[in-house]
Amino acid sequence: MDENESMDDRKQIFLQAMAGSAVSPPPIWLMRQAGRYLPEYRKIRAQHSDFIRFCLNSDAAAEVTLQPIRRYGFDASIVFADILLIPYGLGQKVWFKEGEGPKLKPLGVDDIQSLSIERAKQVLGPVSETIVKVRADLPGTCSLIGFAGSPWTVATYMIEGGGSRDRFKTRALAWRMPEVFDTLMDVLVNASVWYLKAQADAGADVLKLFDSWADGLPDPIFDRVIIRPTGMIIDRLRELGVTQPIIGFPRGAGSQAVRYARQTGITALALDHGTDTGWARRALPEDLTIQGQLDPAVLHAGGAVLDTEVDRLLSAWRGRPYVFNLGHGIHPDTPPEHVTQLIERVRSFEQRAETSKQEQTSWRVV
Ligand code: CP3
Repeated sequence: MDENESMDDRKQIFLQAMAGSAVSPPPIWLMRQAGRYLPEYRKIRAQHSDFIRFCLNSDAAAEVTLQPIRRYGFDASIVFADILLIPYGLGQKVWFKEGEGPKLKPLGVDDIQSLSIERAKQVLGPVSETIVKVRADLPGTCSLIGFAGSPWTVATYMIEGGGSRDRFKTRALAWRMPEVFDTLMDVLVNASVWYLKAQADAGADVLKLFDSWADGLPDPIFDRVIIRPTGMIIDRLRELGVTQPIIGFPRGAGSQAVRYARQTGITALALDHGTDTGWARRALPEDLTIQGQLDPAVLHAGGAVLDTEVDRLLSAWRGRPYVFNLGHGIHPDTPPEHVTQLIERVRSFEQRAETSKQEQTSWRVV
């Protein structure tokens, strides 16, 4: 084996898993690994009152992207930004209220035509600068992920004016005015293609599409607002020569995830913690890379239940291309030492499997 190849083997296990290898123990990173559970994040965040401006300050964003890498040595980093930067860039009013989550001035049907991709290109430039800065300081063992929200999830925030329990207004618009709704989807597809390509060009190794509100959609709507725009983004990126692996996260899609995986062109599928693991193993293609499934609440709990749950997932996905991660973002109240425990548990998996094999053998010999 040539020297570079063996170095790469050790260095980029996340990329190997993305390429379809069953790496064991698997690579690990966590959704929202940069965030309020870290004291070093809270410290720098306290110096920036406006969250959007914080995300668009490439020095601050690069620093907080690197914080969890320095503290824990994750196998992948994710650029510090937010899915709501696209609506902001397109010209919608977006702000964050402490303790209340994101707020947007709800988009009316007549506002769609005033959304401007040219404006978004100007506004979102700093995200590519963040990627360049992170890249320069990242250890060779760590990959860098760029991301965007998927058109459906971003549209729900734009239309509802924030998070919402059942996205009723957005669903009603999709059924009632399909042409108008699809025009909005097309704007978001175009903006996302530009944004993801810019991140790939700046040095992202992998791209991810967050569809956090993919649950509760009837099949015809799921196909129209989730599969179609996701597939369009991926096709367009490939046409533009973007070769990076692309992770899709259709949270809450349940069995619709099978169609999503087969029809969108994603490289890897991120699964939430509510998906039946045994079913997913059987229903999803064996060569498809799977990511996720640990309940953020069990990471918050820590202790023996965390170890047991980590082992369940490692055993269940053993032999398949798998990336260890949560089923959704880390909860802000999570004690940082639980993340240390989690990483140690994941990385000692093969050792433990070996020890238990030896114990069984010696017991049999006796
Ligand atoms: O470390 C990382 O994962 C990278 C950064 C990242 C953030 N948001 C930073 C952030 C990523 C990947 C996101 C994605 C995102 N943003 C999603 C998709 C993933 C998911 O969680 O479903 C969504 C739906 C959003 C929209 C959004 N941004 C919400 C709902 C909130 C409020 C959450 C809260 O707990 O208050 C945000 C704000 C936000 N984005 C924070 C962070 C670290 C917290 C804000 C703060 O520090 O004050």
